[in-house]
Amino acid sequence: KEFTMEDLMAYCSQYGFIFRGSEIYGGLANTWDYGPLGTRLKNNIKDAWRYYFIQTRDNSYELDSDILMNPTVWEASGHLAGFSDPLIDCKSCKTRHRADNLINDYTDEANADTMTQEKMLRYIREKEIPCPKCGKSDFTDIRQFNLMFATRRGVTEESASTIYLRPENAQGEYVNFLNVMRSMRTKLPFGIGQIGKAFRNEITPGNFTFRTIEFEQMEYQTFCKKGEDEALYDYFKNYGIQFFEFLGIKRENLRHHDHEKLAHYAKAACDIEYLFPFGWGEINGTHNRTDFDLTRHQEYSGKSLEYFEEETKEKYIPYIIESTYGLDRIVLALLFETLMEEVKEGETRQVLRLPAFLAPIKINVLPLIKKRHTEKALEIYNHLKRKYMVSYDDAGNIGKRYRRGDVIGTPYAITIDDDTLEKETVTIRQRDTMEQIRLPYEELESYFKEKFNF
Ligand code: GAP
Repeated sequence: KEFTMEDLMAYCSQYGFIFRGSEIYGGLANTWDYGPLGTRLKNNIKDAWRYYFIQTRDNSYELDSDILMNPTVWEASGHLAGFSDPLIDCKSCKTRHRADNLINDYTDEANADTMTQEKMLRYIREKEIPCPKCGKSDFTDIRQFNLMFATRRGVTEESASTIYLRPENAQGEYVNFLNVMRSMRTKLPFGIGQIGKAFRNEITPGNFTFRTIEFEQMEYQTFCKKGEDEALYDYFKNYGIQFFEFLGIKRENLRHHDHEKLAHYAKAACDIEYLFPFGWGEINGTHNRTDFDLTRHQEYSGKSLEYFEEETKEKYIPYIIESTYGLDRIVLALLFETLMEEVKEGETRQVLRLPAFLAPIKINVLPLIKKRHTEKALEIYNHLKRKYMVSYDDAGNIGKRYRRGDVIGTPYAITIDDDTLEKETVTIRQRDTMEQIRLPYEELESYFKEKFNF
């Protein structure tokens, strides 16, 4: 069975992965809350990212910079002047669209990513592109809509000054580049990674958590010498594919998409896209940001951001290769990738085939007969929960309990029965194969020892 976006939204709500934001108040467009299992999944992806980008990479450091920054940062970065979407309204049904999406969704013969605002408008009018909502072709002019989320600080209205919620993590890493280099006593090339929230005033429809106004990024910046940038750029394009395969996404559902139209800061840019039910969608970006950002920060802050290379006695502003990941989009891609409906042993079951290290709950402990096996089952549960996220389920027949673990991706179920009491053995059932083995109770710990590693 192919799951649609609606199926997945229902699944996420039913099993506690993702709920509609402010649901009891009728929601707030493009906001979502992660439930207990969604939160676990997200945390496990973050841990995997840390393992892949920080722990096992040399000269690699994690940062946790503030969401709120001095507003001059956003002047220097170019976001206040240039971070905007081209919007167009249908005069007939008043629906708002992104002009580039209108063209790209309508035809493969033209690419709005390479067009100026004027060219987009001309194209929409010449081709009489219909409004996807009402079918009429009567649009307003295009205007640029800035995506920055403004807020105010200050105790009274009069003294309030406008500050912004960051639209990307990257700038926190750039303004701390010297701090990290100095305090970690490191040299170029080195990397700074950060996981954190970003905010954008997105007004176009979201496709569930694919496009939201508050989202989480895992960004990684490599600071290097000019001349080393192109090789590093190619390297991170491929490293991204490897990371997604490591998370359990099949290669055939991933592709590179090189950008023709570049952001104001980039010399080259390439996305990795995942094949969602609505089509290919960006889940990662690799950008060669050159020395643009640090040069601008040097200019606007008045502080030298030059690097002194001892060997050559040269002074220069480093280049930056950025590799950025949208965490919410990865959660979505992983759910589509691993949620399956299959017929096994004459029964239909839904199973979430997440790699064990990503599974929200690792082991489900089940007393076969409540009256007889509860005491021993609780003893095992209480022991294992100190090491892993474990659940305990004694409601309903054993088959139903297995299915409840399968559908949320729990890789192992342990059943406690009469043999556990008499011979000190338990049954372990594996989620994907549904195979069962019997194991002496005391071998449990060594059996699970390597099972949840990256
Ligand atoms: N620092 C560069 C940067 O922010 P981006 O391509 O604009 O680049 C990086 O965003 C990643 O953040 C994207 O690849 C995507 O996965 C995620 N992302 C961007 N906008 C998003 C939104 N509105 N909702 C959810 N994820 C988003």
